[in-house]
Amino acid sequence: MRVVSGIQPTGKPHLGNYLGAIVNYVKLQDEANAAGGECFIFLADLHAISQPHDPAELTRNTREMVATLVACGVDPARTILFNQAQVPAHAELQWLLNGTARMGWLNRMTQWKDKAGKNREGQSVALFTYPVLQAADVLLYQATHVPVGEDQKQHLELARDIAQKFNNDFCAEDAPLFTLPEPYIPPAAARIMSLRDGTAKMSKSDPSDMSRISLTDDADTIMKKVKKAKTDPEPLPSEEEGLEERAEARNLVGIYAALSGKTSAQVLAEHGGQGFGAFKPALGELLVETLAPINARFVELKGDEEALDAILARGAAQARERGIPTLDAVYKALGLVRG
Ligand code: TYM
Repeated sequence: MRVVSGIQPTGKPHLGNYLGAIVNYVKLQDEANAAGGECFIFLADLHAISQPHDPAELTRNTREMVATLVACGVDPARTILFNQAQVPAHAELQWLLNGTARMGWLNRMTQWKDKAGKNREGQSVALFTYPVLQAADVLLYQATHVPVGEDQKQHLELARDIAQKFNNDFCAEDAPLFTLPEPYIPPAAARIMSLRDGTAKMSKSDPSDMSRISLTDDADTIMKKVKKAKTDPEPLPSEEEGLEERAEARNLVGIYAALSGKTSAQVLAEHGGQGFGAFKPALGELLVETLAPINARFVELKGDEEALDAILARGAAQARERGIPTLDAVYKALGLVRG
């Protein structure tokens, strides 16, 4: 069992990152350790330069993201926690896979289409080839499980396509080089939506801070954001079908379900008939209960830059070593002479 996943150190991590991905980093870290496997979680700082960025902010966010992940339960003693920039094999493998990835595949990526919009010509090359680096990230370590939110599913499918084509083109049928990675997506929290618009995903780049709950928000801020969340005037239904045309209500019920480890159907069985005047404070309390200890731990960790850098340096040394066999095999399979 090889668990591999990444998170961009841009902006503040939010509830969508937590419920969609970070909770499963911790769960799979435990499962991988119990099964004698390994877990790799990295900060996708190389991906972060695909869009305009402030270098000093990227450095600060990288350290803060390490502190956040550790505060959430990612344990550097049991997970190889690092940033891509310290493991050159990620960028190296991306280049080698660029020979296999097809322009047409990248042109179909919805994230590319959404982010580039009408201005494709003005985008960085890195934004276009971003999914090839993501494929390199997971294929380098022969990932089996990749914990991600729903929005990364298409990128993972691309990683599988690249792996499969490489195996077909350059390996004997009975000796494929790459393992095909499987996405691991949480059913209740696959896609946490904005608190201001139930049809848009909760995102670090939304200009409105009221649209998301940051993992570092204090209790008052969390309560305020939940109480101000957009809803409709109807009480909650008792069954899931009643949420069909109610994106905002469905999102809040989904968040409650993910936080409490219940299904949306169970939450509705308990809270059906309740208005948002009663449901929102219950949800707010549950959020505060979950996030307050994370916040306290984050505040403790974030000031100690030396300790955070040491975590990354140690993780990077381990990752560099783990990546060697795959990278060597890829050079060889491609017929590249390396002395
Ligand atoms: P990023 O930094 O945007 O998000 C990190 C993780 O959080 C999940 N996520 C969500 N899940 C549910 N609801 C939401 N609203 C929500 N918003 C974000 C994302 O799905 C992701 O799992 N390209 C990736 C980083 C990456 C990566 C990788 C991931 C680089 N290489 C290799 C997996 C494997 C990204 O930008 O995630």
